[in-house]
Amino acid sequence: MKKSEIKKRYDNKISELKKHNKYYFEKSSPIISDYEYDLIKREILDLEKKYPNLTNPSSPSDSLGYPPSKNFLKSKHRIKMLSLSNAFNKEDLENFEKKIFNYLNQKTNIEYSVEPKIDGISASLTYKNGLLVLGTSRGDGATGEVITENLKTISDIPHKITNRDFPKDIDIRGEVFIKKNDFKKLKNNFANPRNAASGTLRQKNPAETKKIPLNFVAYTYGYFESAEIKKQSDFLNSLKKWGFKINEHNKILKTIDDLVNFHKKFENDRFDLEYDVDGLVYKINSLELQRRLGFTSNSPRWAIAHKFSADSAYSQITDISIQVGRTGALTPVARIKPVNIGGVVVSNATLHNEDEIIRKDIRIGDTVKIERAGDVIPHVIHVDLKKRDKKSKKFEFPITCPSCGSETIKELNRLTKKYDAVRRCTNEGYDCEKIAIEKIKHFISKEAMNIDGLGKKVVENFWSLNLIRFPQDIYNLDYKKISNLEGWGNLSVSNLKYSIDQSKKVPLDRFLYAIGIRHIGVENAKLIAEYTKSIKNLMSFIDKKKLNELLNIDGIGDTQIHSLKKFFDNKLNYSVIKKLSNTLMISDLKLNKKGKLSNNTFMFTGKLSDMSRAEAKSLIEKNSGSVTSSINKKLKYLIIGEKPTNRKVEQAKQLGIKILSEKQWLRLLD
Ligand code: IVH
Repeated sequence: MKKSEIKKRYDNKISELKKHNKYYFEKSSPIISDYEYDLIKREILDLEKKYPNLTNPSSPSDSLGYPPSKNFLKSKHRIKMLSLSNAFNKEDLENFEKKIFNYLNQKTNIEYSVEPKIDGISASLTYKNGLLVLGTSRGDGATGEVITENLKTISDIPHKITNRDFPKDIDIRGEVFIKKNDFKKLKNNFANPRNAASGTLRQKNPAETKKIPLNFVAYTYGYFESAEIKKQSDFLNSLKKWGFKINEHNKILKTIDDLVNFHKKFENDRFDLEYDVDGLVYKINSLELQRRLGFTSNSPRWAIAHKFSADSAYSQITDISIQVGRTGALTPVARIKPVNIGGVVVSNATLHNEDEIIRKDIRIGDTVKIERAGDVIPHVIHVDLKKRDKKSKKFEFPITCPSCGSETIKELNRLTKKYDAVRRCTNEGYDCEKIAIEKIKHFISKEAMNIDGLGKKVVENFWSLNLIRFPQDIYNLDYKKISNLEGWGNLSVSNLKYSIDQSKKVPLDRFLYAIGIRHIGVENAKLIAEYTKSIKNLMSFIDKKKLNELLNIDGIGDTQIHSLKKFFDNKLNYSVIKKLSNTLMISDLKLNKKGKLSNNTFMFTGKLSDMSRAEAKSLIEKNSGSVTSSINKKLKYLIIGEKPTNRKVEQAKQLGIKILSEKQWLRLLD
């Protein structure tokens, strides 16, 4: 495969994963099996392993957050509360370390702070001048719920800290949890200690929280500035000195072998602990290295969660239903007799796709082994053939779309030259009901138009009442009619109206993502928006049939272009875009102009000695500059590392582009 094809494949897999995260976390109704989900994740990890240069801000991490509840005041975290990427085996850890070395462009001896990953709910505590002034839940990672009073009922959380070396302004972060024994004593119907902790912590009345014995273990910080503390392990010790509880099993280890051995031992020992632990967290101990490595959009590059193996149980399939997704994918889901797996009641398991059903010969009535690991979607491992009814018949996968009756097909994958495992409805547009509903749900979602008051359930409701058929209908809602609906009061209607009005102003990249074109995820939408700059331009690319020109964009290839063309060839899709672009204020893409390097474009040639290209690129972007991969008139600086490409240097000289050594460039940044 060509380099650009690999990158495309990788980016596609990432977008796919993000899509399924949404189904799983936001809608609680996955459209693929855990198995399939894991395959996607696995492929991403494998690609990253094979091609260490592949990185994506959204490389897999299992725990996405949930939006904050409307019952609480919200508070924006000064520093985001991110999640951790997962490792399941030694290979994953080696890959993790390799990526670090690549990013730093050097091999160093790494020391890890190893911490049990307690399965609870994370919380952030803001102390100013030693006083606890704010306590929040994680929320969606960017904004949390203000639950200060509830947190204050936890005896492990100090209200006042008088140590002289306690920072004047700091967010302390840690896990709120309930001990296994205390959980057993609870009369509530929570499925597991984690749910119990979450439910209790988010009671409206703190007096209710106080009744339940919650615990708090501190493990990291959010906002915090210190020149003295240089290691995570030193920070943990300080936490202890300041009066916080820290985990008694924290330790420092150096090599991957040590990590793996400790994990093996801990995986068995964990059952003797007083609380649930779902893995170990490994953090690079040096805070200086942590700072250099920074974050992707979901998780730090300097930490990883090494999960313990999954739980499983047997149950019987009562039915197999077919879900139709936004891009027409037909996903079979097994409805099973509810079964408790590791404390969570599971009644659906994803069967991935038609091929998976054939391969495993899964039939209605079969007894199957279901696996569930952490937050991963439950999936079928195998069929217990001994229990199969002699009269059972093979499952017949529908060949027409269960929603609109259109023909379904398995597409030929342009990269692998194999037929897709996924069967799709050929109806690309809004005349397939299920696809249309999913498109609208996608349109309103957080990363798209972000229409807060209009949840997925509301979309379904409005659809069934014939209030919406197309995204543009959202901007023409009959609010009078809505205020007469059950469950809608004046306040909720005006909130809805407010959030819809708010969404009218939207940057081009979000809009492009929102209209839901297959293969155009958040990242690709950004790339295209950066290139086309305005909706007017974008429309003229479409109208003048110049979409091929987008192939110039690094990261956009045949798959995306093919998908864009197919999308806009559909008359309904096209008219939706036209109508929306008349209603909305789609803003041109503006670069952040605040940083030192704003309006400056850079290009690299040759190997850098102090850091990887990825780190260098992110450093430039952090300072509002941009990086390109081709020499053009807009290029301002060519940065030369070891063994530069002479042709590029010559070309740059001819165009009068300034040439900088790595050192000179770093000086630009101080
Ligand atoms: S560090 C950016 N340390 O795991 C760093 N997290 O998937 C992220 N967790 O939301 C947090 N024990 O709820 C960290 N020793 C530990 C942890 C830990 C449990 C949870 C936490 C977080 C989730 C990340």
